[in-house]
Amino acid sequence: MGKFYISTPIYYVNDNPHLGHAYCTIVADFFARYHRLLGDETFFLTGTDEHGQKVQKSAEKEEITPKELADRVFVRYRDLWNKLDISNNDFIRTTEERHKKGVIAILKKMVEKGDIFKDAYEGPYCVSCESFFPEKDIVDGKCPDFGHPVTILREESYFFKLSKYTEPLLKFYNEYHDFVLPESRMNEVKTFVEMGLKDLSITRSSINWGIPFPEDEKHVLYVWLDALSNYITALGYGSSDDTLFKKFWPCDVHLIGKDILRFHAIYWPAFLMSAEIPLPKHILGHGWWMKDQNKMSKSLGNIVDPNPLVDEFSSDVFRYFLLREKPIGSDGSFSDEAFIDRLNADLANDLGNLTSRLLALLEQQFEGKVFEGDGSLMESAFKQYEEYHKAMENFSPKESLETVWAFISSLNKFLVLREPWANPNSESSKNTLSEVARALRMVALQIAPAMPRSAGTIINSLGFKPSTFKDFLWEEKQTTRAYRISNLFPRVDKKEYFQNLKKGEKMEEKEDSKVIESKEEVRGEERVSIDYFRKIQLKAGKIIEAERVPKSNKLIKMIVDFGSENRQIVAGIGKKYSPEDLIGKICPFVFNLEPAKLMGVESNGMILAGNLDGEPILLQFLEEVPPGAKIS
Ligand code: MSP
Repeated sequence: MGKFYISTPIYYVNDNPHLGHAYCTIVADFFARYHRLLGDETFFLTGTDEHGQKVQKSAEKEEITPKELADRVFVRYRDLWNKLDISNNDFIRTTEERHKKGVIAILKKMVEKGDIFKDAYEGPYCVSCESFFPEKDIVDGKCPDFGHPVTILREESYFFKLSKYTEPLLKFYNEYHDFVLPESRMNEVKTFVEMGLKDLSITRSSINWGIPFPEDEKHVLYVWLDALSNYITALGYGSSDDTLFKKFWPCDVHLIGKDILRFHAIYWPAFLMSAEIPLPKHILGHGWWMKDQNKMSKSLGNIVDPNPLVDEFSSDVFRYFLLREKPIGSDGSFSDEAFIDRLNADLANDLGNLTSRLLALLEQQFEGKVFEGDGSLMESAFKQYEEYHKAMENFSPKESLETVWAFISSLNKFLVLREPWANPNSESSKNTLSEVARALRMVALQIAPAMPRSAGTIINSLGFKPSTFKDFLWEEKQTTRAYRISNLFPRVDKKEYFQNLKKGEKMEEKEDSKVIESKEEVRGEERVSIDYFRKIQLKAGKIIEAERVPKSNKLIKMIVDFGSENRQIVAGIGKKYSPEDLIGKICPFVFNLEPAKLMGVESNGMILAGNLDGEPILLQFLEEVPPGAKIS
């Protein structure tokens, strides 16, 4: 039995998860599930990067501690991964003790090697990238990677002798051509290293949110040394139990976005060489997702939140779209239209129709029994199966799914050609349906890494027990009869969908303009009397249920317990909070507001929220209050 270890980057907690983060985690999950189905002992790691200047700055802005920020945001990642059926074996947070201990153990080895020295550093520093850049790369005071503003930073710092590893790294790249994938990116890395590496500052004294440097605690460790180490600290490196480290290291694939290639393909192997730890096998760099051909950014307000899409279309559909839509190494663009088109064409039409048609015919003609068949599909099925595995070995999710869909389309054609409906209950119909059922079972197994839920539903409905790639047998016998299932992937009426989407956006705009109007009044400082204010009843309510309003990015429908009664209240807080964040929270509400309908959903009251840069911030009580408590 083989072993397989795959990791995602650990995500910064200064931002909520978006479609780009979800993509990386879904791709890693896809490969992890594939390897489990091959019978490999698999370890899949993800987590959050919680130290460093970026996180410290964001927390300061919100006037909370960095740890409070991390505690709030890490839950969003964890919850989204649950929603997306991510099968990670561990989730590491860099603020955990186990991680900190492991980092110190690595650092100790680097010190023992004589690779760490103290000096002063001055140079252009980009806070966003958490990185110093050479003077020559700065254009108009902006960092070369993203054009973020840089500042000159001078500080006493500990350095890592990165320059010493220029030659060993080049030798390593020449020996392992496929260390960085796709290969074009390997060349990028080589060219960079060939220009010569400078020693790297690995501590900061200008911030305090990080792991203290042992015996010189005014310095904290550079966030990238801290962060990269997660790949081994999660396995117990440097702890009393390093069984997982012994078993799974070196990692098979560090999956990352192309923007963080330098850190993974240069710094990380150099740190490992210094600490005398074997190097990972592959660094796989994926391309970026944009939205409607534009870079996703907060300022453009076009960041795609996966939550509403998953709530409306299911995690399987969302996963499939991302894996299938663009080659892993290239950039791609998300659009609602492309999403619906892909759902309708590949899932509702090709796979959905094949499944429902076959199940209906099997039930009508053979009481759901699948027979041996005449073997007419076996050869083409195994040919496609081989192509699929080849694409998987090449780390190409899109290509692997393409081979499956080409086969699905040939199965639909096979049915049309053989017309099993023309001669019901005949020998020929029996063979046709049994062959297609066996082929579809094989299809379901292959799509399991992408769409685990639908794959399971198809295999069950065909009457087979689940199998893996290792124990898959074409001639397997059913354990129960096949049965019809309700529409696996309902077709979306595109026109109606976009009309509703527009309506939703308009309603949201209206809501926003209401808020703006009322802000204007406040700016005008219109005062109200205490009697006027007393007319507004404010009460504490406990949110006992919460879900998104379909087709709205923003609205969440809640059931709120006010002690004497439960009420339905709708709030426009869904861009910031997910339903899971809200359940169980006790918050202040306006209790005697006139009922209103928001996107057709009745709302009977209003939650109170602060406003930070246009984002709602929910209020909480300092002490526990019972639902229904009056606020005055
Ligand atoms: N914390 C570091 C990684 C440390 S790993 C030891 C970091 N975090 S991040 O949250 O900024 O980014 C995490 C990953 O998300 C990166 O691989 C990045 O490429 C990816 N993406 C962020 N935006 C993206 C898109 N729009 N599209 C695809 N992936 C993108 O960097």
